[in-house]
Amino acid sequence: MSHTDNADVAVIGGGVIGLAVAWRLAQRGASVTLFERGALGDGASSVAAGMLAPVSEAEYGVSGRHALELGLAAARRWPGFAHELGQAAGRPVSLRRSGTLMLARDRDEAEALEREHRFRDSLGLVTRRLRSSQARALEPALAPNLRLALEIPDDHSVDPREVLAALRQAAATAGVRVREGTAVSGLWLARAEDRVQGVELGDGERVVADQVVVASGAWTGALEGIPEALRVPVRPLKGQTLRLRDPAGPGLLGRVVRYPGGYLVPRDDGRYVLGATMEERGHDVTPTAGGMYDLLRDAHEHVPGVSELVIEEIAVGLRPGTADNLPAIGRAALAGLVWAVGHHRSGILLTPLTADLVTAAVAGEAPDDLARACAPARFERVPA
Ligand code: FAD
Ligand code: GLY
Repeated sequence: MSHTDNADVAVIGGGVIGLAVAWRLAQRGASVTLFERGALGDGASSVAAGMLAPVSEAEYGVSGRHALELGLAAARRWPGFAHELGQAAGRPVSLRRSGTLMLARDRDEAEALEREHRFRDSLGLVTRRLRSSQARALEPALAPNLRLALEIPDDHSVDPREVLAALRQAAATAGVRVREGTAVSGLWLARAEDRVQGVELGDGERVVADQVVVASGAWTGALEGIPEALRVPVRPLKGQTLRLRDPAGPGLLGRVVRYPGGYLVPRDDGRYVLGATMEERGHDVTPTAGGMYDLLRDAHEHVPGVSELVIEEIAVGLRPGTADNLPAIGRAALAGLVWAVGHHRSGILLTPLTADLVTAAVAGEAPDDLARACAPARFERVPA
């Protein structure tokens, strides 16, 4: 086997998570090589809508509580992260502070939304209950037959493609060696299998690295060399989206709107992301007529003017989900292996936090409460 490269840290995967981790590590002086089997952003990251929505997406239960804590901590980091990333990349990264409206059309949906309102109230989250007329005063394009709305003033958005482009530039400027078109076949373990000593590439090349960060999204299960007992199971959750543009320019919607089964996320330039299906179909990324029909029907019922928009693109991505839908971030019980996977529906939101948690893990710092909430150890199976 040939060794043609070496690094302090090898990062597997060039989505937002791998890129942000690589950038932060390089900023702190590490030599970093990032491997992306296709082009940077080829995975879920360039399909994502970019909602930074911990309050809209708050869920019940213990995992929901942890997800909320992680999401709020990440949302607090976004203004500083966007600013610093923009400076490092020499191009602006805009945080669109629009707030979000959650919508209900009929009585059942309105009752469900009332429950969601009470739940968020009980957690001390800022929300405002709006009658249909109040919601339409804020967003005149909403359908007149809405029953109820919930305003979430602090849930904002970014454009993930803008973030990816900035991360690519910032990582390069910080000295990250990016190897696109280079698939990692698996981890390269020491003979005693007690530590990672690098990665093996598809063509048999081996790259020496003190630590390996796995950020390979929904394809993580294909990596070889990870002891079975230490694997984090990651499953793909297919999401179909439409990219729409208003020929009349911006203004149809100012806020993100969410409703059962979908959402519309406005950009500043009159473009919209209409999302998204949630499907268990393995690694299939084929767009379907049924998926498009469902998205357009629901969007039209909430915002009739959507029918006037131009379809620019159909984009399909695979959310990387774990069994409890929380990410796995941090050190494994195998020296040199660090996980950064399983960001499911919130990987854009969680990017700045994940980069900080991984940087701390690589530096050998003791985990804090946030790190404990997403510790990979919860998936490890100790052999009997
Ligand atoms: P990915 O972006 O999938 O990147 C993984 C990369 O690893 C890929 O580029 C892949 O090619 C590469 N790779 C895999 N295996 C290998 C290998 N062996 N060797 C080399 N490279 C490899 N999140 C939000 O916060 N807000 C949203 O509004 C939002 N909307 C979404 C809408 C949709 C439709 C979808 C699908 C997702 C959405 N998400 C959202 C979730 C978000 O996109 C993901 O959580 C996030 O992009 C995960 O980033 P990642 O870097 O872990 O994975
Ligand atoms: N967070 C939006 C989605 O996953 O579709």
